[in-house]
Amino acid sequence: MAASEHAPTLRVPIARHFAAFRPAVSSASVGEIAFIGGTGPEGLGLALRFAAAGERVVIGSRTADRASAVADQIRATVAGAEAHGCENLEAAARADRVFLTVPAAALPSFLSSARERLGGKLVVDVVVPVVLRGRVFEIAPLFGAGSAGELVQQAVPSARVVSAFKNLSAERLKDVGTPLEGDVVVCGNDPTARAEVARLVRTLPQLRAVEADGIVNARYLEAITALLLNLNRRYHAQTSIAVLGLP
Ligand SMILES: NC(=O)c1ccc[n+]([C@@H]2O[C@H](COP(=O)([O-])OP(=O)(O)OC[C@H]3O[C@@H](n4cnc5c(N)ncnc54)[C@H](OP(=O)(O)O)[C@@H]3O)[C@@H](O)[C@H]2O)c1
Repeated sequence: MAASEHAPTLRVPIARHFAAFRPAVSSASVGEIAFIGGTGPEGLGLALRFAAAGERVVIGSRTADRASAVADQIRATVAGAEAHGCENLEAAARADRVFLTVPAAALPSFLSSARERLGGKLVVDVVVPVVLRGRVFEIAPLFGAGSAGELVQQAVPSARVVSAFKNLSAERLKDVGTPLEGDVVVCGNDPTARAEVARLVRTLPQLRAVEADGIVNARYLEAITALLLNLNRRYHAQTSIAVLGLP
């Protein structure tokens, strides 16, 4: 199911829609951000948004050619974007900040092959282990871990794992000319890493970062995504979340 249900128009060549898009913000920062499985709609959408915010992005894939084609697409979409494509392991090795945007089922094998490359790095887990049962999206058990975020932290204890962006729809992310709305809840055991991801969130116009504490909160973020998918189906919409009542 899962991932393709998130975003049915996944492989649409977006460049032709957004060829004239120019980033509102252009403040290139140090270091690259890698997107493992960045050829899918969620990784691509995030990469487009961060490229538009002035970050240098690296698209990872199981196939270097596919990654390069998506990097070309990003450069064609966002004027001045710096984007490179390569195999997942190379992407994980060259970037200090690594976003995991693969299907949940692909996580264990990627983590076991990339453990050394991810050690000490900021690893942003976007994975939602969701399955469609009948007409209802549900969270699937994930290899004994309570959530994808916890699985990643357990697999690579030295990584600074933060779960975030799990409630943002790929369709909205890819619509790079339209500002996003709502909150991005970030959680992880390392407060510095959380703050770093919160800063990244704030580089995307109109998004607010909300810091939850430990990585255990990832399981609730993932459950919220299952709810949003059920709402999307019910209302033919692309929903996201906003938290009320914060100071
Ligand atoms: N789509 C959404 O709206 C959305 C929203 C929130 C969170 N998420 C989460 O973000 C992640 C990515 O979502 P997506 O919709 O972009 O997923 P996807 O299109 O199914 O997969 C992303 C990429 O992962 C690679 N991949 C697929 N199967 C694999 C396997 N068995 N082993 C290794 N790599 C594999 C593919 O890249 P290559 O073929 O190029 O290697 C694919 O392009 C998922 O965990 C999803 O739950 C998605």
